[in-house]
Amino acid sequence: MPRLLLVSNRLPVTVKVEKDSVSVVRSAGGLATGLSQPHERSGGVWIGWPGDVSRLTDTQRTRVEQQLADLRCVPLYLSASEVSRFYEGYSNRVLWPLCHYMLDRIPRQDRDWDAYRKANERFADLAAKHYQKGDTIWVHDYQLMLVPGMLRARLPHARIGYFHHIPFPSSEIFSTLPRRTELLKGLLGADLIGFHAVSYVRHFSGTLLRQLGLDTDVDRILFQGREVRVGAFAMGIDAASFETLAQEPAVMEEVKTLHARSHGERLLVGIDRLDYTKGIPRRLLAVQRVLERSPALRGRLRFIQVAVPSRTEVQAYAEYRETVDELVGRINGTYGTVHSTPVHYLYRSLNEKQLVSLYRGTDVMLVTPVRDGMNLVAKEFCASRPDEDGVLVLSEFAGAAAEMRDALLVNPYDVEGMADAIEEALEMPRPERQHRMRCLRAGVKARDVHWWVASFLDRLQGLKSVAERPPLP
Ligand code: G6P
Repeated sequence: MPRLLLVSNRLPVTVKVEKDSVSVVRSAGGLATGLSQPHERSGGVWIGWPGDVSRLTDTQRTRVEQQLADLRCVPLYLSASEVSRFYEGYSNRVLWPLCHYMLDRIPRQDRDWDAYRKANERFADLAAKHYQKGDTIWVHDYQLMLVPGMLRARLPHARIGYFHHIPFPSSEIFSTLPRRTELLKGLLGADLIGFHAVSYVRHFSGTLLRQLGLDTDVDRILFQGREVRVGAFAMGIDAASFETLAQEPAVMEEVKTLHARSHGERLLVGIDRLDYTKGIPRRLLAVQRVLERSPALRGRLRFIQVAVPSRTEVQAYAEYRETVDELVGRINGTYGTVHSTPVHYLYRSLNEKQLVSLYRGTDVMLVTPVRDGMNLVAKEFCASRPDEDGVLVLSEFAGAAAEMRDALLVNPYDVEGMADAIEEALEMPRPERQHRMRCLRAGVKARDVHWWVASFLDRLQGLKSVAERPPLP
């Protein structure tokens, strides 16, 4: 197996500081889990930002570095200005809303392009420094769209893959970006560019044609005398570990407590990063509509929404939080009684056991983003239901919808339609729930995160390297 050189904005770790002690723990996210084995087995390194470590003492920092080295991670520290201009600025104020079709969230005048380019240079420099002949380099996500091109300039013969974890928008949208050409050329430095869904591949190809006059021949693009491949690789989750967790006694105990405290109430659950792409306000309005329409459900329905704090320094996120807070307050004020509160809202992150208990204990899971590259919560929910029960209500604008056809698919902009779907889910007979969940679980288990990593890497490593290829006509 060739050595893997992984490059992503964030390292797959969390640095935990408790009083005097500091520790580095592996994150539980999809990418971290899926890549941990190939990363270790190949003997390669993972380059990325370990998060804000500015408050650590020198001794603590040395300890962190030692632990990172043990995990074969190479830290790239972002300065405060890089955090605000590269990470919060261009990545999350421009590219994130753009790729999610939210042009009105982008600042009128962007001043952070330079910081984005320079930070991408730093990632490329560090990756090139750690590169050994024969390595496979795999760059991840929109924060690093220029890195493949920068690496190609430094390492003309390297094998480079890039995966875009968020949607790639239609060419109409992408073309509004003043720096569209630089970004496209940056991506084309890769040998293989991966997206979650076929529609994103189509959008990318359309944009290449429109902006650079490049034709895509099935999955092949000729660019500057090289062949670049594109493909759809739907990311999965570590389904086996969710299934195991969902059967642990501690989780079953928690589910029992959840049900006992609910006093027979039907449960709806939503779990998201608090992000304006997740469609939480309309989801809340849909729950409100259900309560409005069915007085019999008042006091008999509880919606637990977990919102994990995210990118809190970006104004759009702070404003979104206010909108959500206000709606939750309004619904609870209107439909709460002294004995019951319809919306149970948690603004914090939960550990895996707590999450799986909610997946396992709910009647209905609401995953209704207005736009989402894939959405792994939908898959985690199904993997956590070995009892083959529970109904998934899923947005048709999540990448996952292309695969999870047995969910109740909804338009997240249609509040009435979502209210209908919630009612349908609550009334669905057990045999239908079971049938749908069985089909969903089969897909989630077959196309898990290990399958995703293997299909991307097999494809990338199966391509002839630049040095092996005959020159193009
Ligand atoms: C999305 C992006 C990832 C990002 C994650 C968390 O899933 O595709 O690249 O790491 O959100 O966001 P954060 O800004 O905290 O890294």
